[in-house]
Amino acid sequence: MSSSDPANQASVFSLTNHEVYVLTSTWDGRENGQIATWVLPATLVEGTPRIVAILSPQNFTHGLIVKSRSFALNLLAEEQYDLVPLFGLTSGRDILKLDGLVNSRTPAGFPLLANTCGWAECRIVSEIDSGDRIIYLADVTAQKVYEGKKPLHKHDAFLKQPQDIRLLLEEKHRNDGMRDAALMRQFTA
Ligand SMILES: Cc1cc2nc3c(=O)[nH]c(=O)nc-3n(C[C@H](O)[C@H](O)[C@H](O)COP(=O)(O)O)c2cc1C
Repeated sequence: MSSSDPANQASVFSLTNHEVYVLTSTWDGRENGQIATWVLPATLVEGTPRIVAILSPQNFTHGLIVKSRSFALNLLAEEQYDLVPLFGLTSGRDILKLDGLVNSRTPAGFPLLANTCGWAECRIVSEIDSGDRIIYLADVTAQKVYEGKKPLHKHDAFLKQPQDIRLLLEEKHRNDGMRDAALMRQFTA
């Protein structure tokens, strides 16, 4: 392999450091939340805020989103890194993650956590299936900012964990990547 071989080089995207959200949704009396970091504003137009969220259809939360077509984004504050293992390592298939943690709700009834930087309620308007992920475009239908908090970023969310938890998070990322590689191969075949 030559040194210009892309497979030999670190990804430029490993240098990015996205904000960490707990994305919640609810359907038919069941509610759940997952960590999401691939979330971006998607318009500059004032009065019509929109975001893109890139989500795995393998997650339990995704089943709720498919039905409700809506979700809430809780932007975690930097001191809330201890919520990352619960919402990013475990699945709503196995436990009730939100038990005792729902502080309030969006106007449409989606669960909100306490002590975050703020939240946005989102309604899906369009989507693209990319094989391993679904890329959602969503209108922000309500939102609130709590002043004086700094957002948690992905690198700190990993670095601040106890070592055993950090290793589990890294292992899950690797395993999810291998799972997604198989899905992407099927999709592009
Ligand atoms: C730091 C971090 C970032 C993550 N970002 C995303 C993301 O942007 N999209 C996604 O679908 N999953 C993401 N995940 C994975 C889900 O949070 C994880 O698979 C979760 O356990 C799914 O829970 P559920 O099955 O209860 O829905 C991320 C996990 C971590 C730890």
